[in-house]
Amino acid sequence: MVKVDRAPQRHLLKPLGGYLGLELRDGEEYHTNAIRVNTGANAFKTILLTGKYQKIYLPIYNCDSVLQPLKELQIPYQFYPVDHHLDPVFEIGSLKEGEGFLIVNYFGLKDDSIAALRKQTGNVIVDNAQSFFSKPIQDTDTFYSTRKFFGVPDGAYLYLKTKVNLALEIDHSYHRAEHLLRRIDVSAEDGFAFYRQNEQHLSSQPLRTMSGLTRALLKNIDYEHIRRVRVDNFGYYERALKNHNLLKVPWNGTQVPLIYPFLTDDVHLYDRLLDEKIYTARYWPGVRELAEPGSWEHQLARMLIALPVDQRLSQTDIERILKIILKSHRR
Ligand SMILES: Cc1ncc(COP(=O)(O)O)c(C=O)c1O
Repeated sequence: MVKVDRAPQRHLLKPLGGYLGLELRDGEEYHTNAIRVNTGANAFKTILLTGKYQKIYLPIYNCDSVLQPLKELQIPYQFYPVDHHLDPVFEIGSLKEGEGFLIVNYFGLKDDSIAALRKQTGNVIVDNAQSFFSKPIQDTDTFYSTRKFFGVPDGAYLYLKTKVNLALEIDHSYHRAEHLLRRIDVSAEDGFAFYRQNEQHLSSQPLRTMSGLTRALLKNIDYEHIRRVRVDNFGYYERALKNHNLLKVPWNGTQVPLIYPFLTDDVHLYDRLLDEKIYTARYWPGVRELAEPGSWEHQLARMLIALPVDQRLSQTDIERILKIILKSHRR
């Protein structure tokens, strides 16, 4: 009788029984046909590797983590400015073959101008790190970063113009989830240092496939609910603040925003909100060093306050925020 050795196949068997893991809904991801990697910067790196770009134009008003892959791959880059609608100030017709033009979907508001720009050139790389819900444009290099919109440790999606089969090592992120757990279990303040630590860690994480934990969490999300809350909350801010906002907000009424961008001349507003436990972001710290003091980008980096519109906020919460803002802007 021939003896069958089953040992080499054992790792392929589905484990049955035993202790239980986190209980999550086995739903569908939003970007079902995208490639899954671990961070937005690494998604951009994948685009650079597969697109064989020889030079990249990118806005100075951007997250400096996108510079990391450019430096690593030694691809020359050049900054371009943005105008008061956050559109590129750039002669698109001057782009040469092999030159990529990175465009940022700021705050999840710029779908329309990105679509118009894409019609002028195929060399566009769309940075949708701030616009998770934007659908990809066909034959366009595009990337997303998931943790800006949802409580996940990491994760990014990308769509490639040039199709390739990537064989990457899989990432693990169970050890990068402590801030998510602490925010629920203890408090936002308690988890903050762990969040910072995680962000620091992710900035030097090698390119890997999205972890099983992050993917499972992304399958658990009710995307339609989140879409609706974000759009409603944004509209609420816009109605109350549009006459006080120094930025003319380029919103088409349907795109799903990351935050509400409020450009103010009140240098104390950020701290006053902080005192009331209202935590806002300012994009991006690196821009303050790169951009000329006095430039539009420098002003955006210093004075634009990213007001939260996310799925946790009700209209009552937004009224609390508006009350603080309007107190100083009613003149
Ligand atoms: C516009 C933009 N692009 C790219 C990135 C990089 O994404 P990640 O932090 O996932 O690497 C960020 C991060 O904040 C971003 O804001």
